[in-house]
Amino acid sequence: MTVFADVPLAPRDPILGITEAFVADQNPDKVNLGVGVYLDAQGKLPVLECVRRAKEQVALAAKPAAYLPINGLAAYDAGVKELVFGAGSPLLERAVTVQGLGGTGALRIGAEFLRQLNAAAPVLISDPSWENHRALFTRTGFAVGTYRYYEPGVGLDFPGMLADLQDAAAGTVVVLHACCHNPTGYDLTPAQWTQVADAVQERQLVPFLDMAYQGFRDGLAADGAVVAEFAGRSVPLLVATSFSKSLSLYGERVGALSVLGQDAEEAARILSQLKVCVRTLYSNPPTYGAALAAAVLADPELRALWDAELAQMRDRIKVMRKALAERLGPDFAFVTGQSGLFSYTGLAADQMRALREQHSVYGLDSGRICVAALNEGNIDRVAQAIQAVR
Ligand code: LMR
Repeated sequence: MTVFADVPLAPRDPILGITEAFVADQNPDKVNLGVGVYLDAQGKLPVLECVRRAKEQVALAAKPAAYLPINGLAAYDAGVKELVFGAGSPLLERAVTVQGLGGTGALRIGAEFLRQLNAAAPVLISDPSWENHRALFTRTGFAVGTYRYYEPGVGLDFPGMLADLQDAAAGTVVVLHACCHNPTGYDLTPAQWTQVADAVQERQLVPFLDMAYQGFRDGLAADGAVVAEFAGRSVPLLVATSFSKSLSLYGERVGALSVLGQDAEEAARILSQLKVCVRTLYSNPPTYGAALAAAVLADPELRALWDAELAQMRDRIKVMRKALAERLGPDFAFVTGQSGLFSYTGLAADQMRALREQHSVYGLDSGRICVAALNEGNIDRVAQAIQAVR
């Protein structure tokens, strides 16, 4: 008998576990609408042209793979900081950005940092939220609660959300989806964001913005504008950025955590602590994806190309939303009013299971499907399968 004798078998991950089941399915017509991955019209993972050109630049400048600094590639951190807070913004002086392993890694560094500051702080996530938000903050040691966000048949429950934030204790960490809410697809209007930021300031909460889908609602600048709502107030701010979806660099694990302090001196102390978090979690980050993202962020031509390619991805998703709604009838008209990669279908867990088991169409038990994986070749099959389980 060893210490491993009583290791319990963990359940499959609610999102990546669906991919595991999909991979094991022998049906040649299977469709994976589980994980949040954008696929092109041919059902392929795209290589963005801006990334292809960045690869040429990075190859020309290829260096031996020395360790990066603990906080990551300097050009990358600087580029992300400008993306988050605005080029030339006075905020840059009191902000710090560290490279992270995707958006999840950025959230984890932020959670670790916050736990060192106050392990007793409550954490609030939206109800519902990305499944890994609860797991990640719970495993870091926090008690995780929820604020109201979604009402079945209605969409966004903004009065509920606001009331719950106005009720939160000072110091509560509030995880907010900057855009393309995961899993529901329902976002706040700019005016609603102002009200949320008012509540955050009034209650002295700690906003932690998850910007994993920046660019997929209205574009990089428009989606990033929410940062200014919080940055203009006397509240701390954490922002997790991911380039997994927006640069289609999933496996390169390119993300970043940005934190805004009160002044440059405070920001330097924050950075020193973030480095301790990174060093003890995984020492320092990998080079390649960050070099690619840094090249896109720094080169005006590649940056413009990126904007255009994001617009193409957004437009294709919108076309697929419309096509799905048309096939499913008026009850599914709501699909076109949601943003980003996901649609919360309202289907129950047993219907989602039936979709998988009887039709090889893989979505999450929560009813979430990734509409960004639909295409002309699979949409009829998916629509028929949904009709069959309704
Ligand atoms: C998702 O929600 O499907 C994505 O964010 C991928 C992931 O890591 O869960």
